[in-house]
Amino acid sequence: MGKIEKTAFGQNGASLYRLHNRHGMQVTVTDFGARIVEVLLPVTGEGLRNVTLACASAEEYLAQDAYVGASILPVAGRISGASTEISGQTYHFTENEPNRTLHGGVDTTNLHLWQTEIDEAANQISFTYQLPDGKNGFPGTISVTATYTLTEDNGVRVSYRATSDKDTVFNPTNHVYFNLTGDVHQTVGQHRLQIAADRFAVLNGDNVPSGELRAVEGTPFDFRKGGVFEQGLTSDYEQIKLVQGFDHPWLLEDAEQQVVVTSPDDKVTLTLQTNQPSVVIYTYNHGPTDLAAQHGVFSLECQALPDACNQEGFGSILLAAGEKFTSETEYQFSWK
Ligand code: BGC
Repeated sequence: MGKIEKTAFGQNGASLYRLHNRHGMQVTVTDFGARIVEVLLPVTGEGLRNVTLACASAEEYLAQDAYVGASILPVAGRISGASTEISGQTYHFTENEPNRTLHGGVDTTNLHLWQTEIDEAANQISFTYQLPDGKNGFPGTISVTATYTLTEDNGVRVSYRATSDKDTVFNPTNHVYFNLTGDVHQTVGQHRLQIAADRFAVLNGDNVPSGELRAVEGTPFDFRKGGVFEQGLTSDYEQIKLVQGFDHPWLLEDAEQQVVVTSPDDKVTLTLQTNQPSVVIYTYNHGPTDLAAQHGVFSLECQALPDACNQEGFGSILLAAGEKFTSETEYQFSWK
């Protein structure tokens, strides 16, 4: 385990922090949006392979932000009607899509500098941010900590903790994108994927869950025994055509390996473990193509189901005043 190195990350005061472990793996994170920048693996015969979509400075993220690597607060995904009821009162949020709030609204914390705390002994960086009461319509001063740890088991552990001084809704996620070949300009179609999920959430035309939780059986969403992304990306299945790929939540089973992805060259495997009930997999269906090819990367956004605050049977994302929120997700890597 090495010392955590700090360097400037562009001209606006942002910093880049580099963590190492004793297997030669490195992770870089920045206080600009509490982002994961790179995950670097010492793949045999080729030096360090970066398996994320990464920008080279805070300004680059600012110029073309598709939430790349960022922490998303306070509520990830789309909220239908850009409103919800919290403890008997209706709240209206900033609409950044017609009649919807995506990823917490506008001018969100992914575009701001967070406070940093370094814990060398734990090989860990914590970023903190205080969301002001009423920001984008969300009630409560919400104090949030995002902690990134590089473990000696080659895991990148992401943990969110929060408290609010008013009842509010809270469902954060991390929006890191991966291509395990290291080349984000190639489609991820041939990556192998296994997901321990029997059901996925069907989307309506607004890209919001319709409320239906559908069995994966007999659909391109069935990765229980493994498959390749391509089985969805080129399918005529109506849910795929609707969003030109995957942009869907799967309901995770309580398995030891909830999601496993392997690169087509078989050299890199990512295994996901989370205490969150679902994973939203977005295959970069319409991101800026100068940054990555269409379908050139995928995200594994661990969270409660999107629009849970407005849908029966989707679970609660209420964060009551004074209560503690915690989520834990680990992306673990192995390589040859
Ligand atoms: C959403 C996509 C959206 C993307 C923006 C994803 O989490 O599900 O619909 O376009 O974020 O980067």
